Amino acid sequence: MSIANSHKIDTSKLDEIINSYEGKKSNLIAILQKVQEVYRYLPEEAMIYIGTKMEGLSPATVFGVATFYAQFSLEPKGKYEIKVCDGTACHVRGSMPVLNAIKARLDLKDGQLTTEDGLFSLETVSCLGACGLAPVVVINGKVYPQMTSDAITIVLDTLLKEDK
Ligand code: FES
Repeated sequence: MSIANSHKIDTSKLDEIINSYEGKKSNLIAILQKVQEVYRYLPEEAMIYIGTKMEGLSPATVFGVATFYAQFSLEPKGKYEIKVCDGTACHVRGSMPVLNAIKARLDLKDGQLTTEDGLFSLETVSCLGACGLAPVVVINGKVYPQMTSDAITIVLDTLLKEDK
């Protein structure tokens, strides 16, 4: 199943967001932030809708803005967003075995960013500025310091249990 195509876009929800910013194109970034909050990424259909609906914009402009800013994701994110730091300090202290343990526990194939059930997404990031705690993993903004393969597997098991 392709998660990217599994979102049904609720245009009335999009209208509500656009209207809450008075449909002004100067508010486009704030509007996209809101849409991303709802879907956890920017679905293509939503960007096309916004670009068609809002005055003075086009889908191409909306795509351009969305791809320019790193804060926007054009790929679906999981309910739990896992970021593994692969800056130098974390790399040296073993971030790759931790990353591999996450992939193994969540059954993520190479190149697959989000689990089939949409629960977890995984990415590597550069230095998070917490090198003293290396290797660092961040899940939904919570920092997990000095991770090991075993420790991260326990963290994931706990999240999976809590989510049931
Ligand atoms: S290298 Fe990972 S926090 Fe700095």
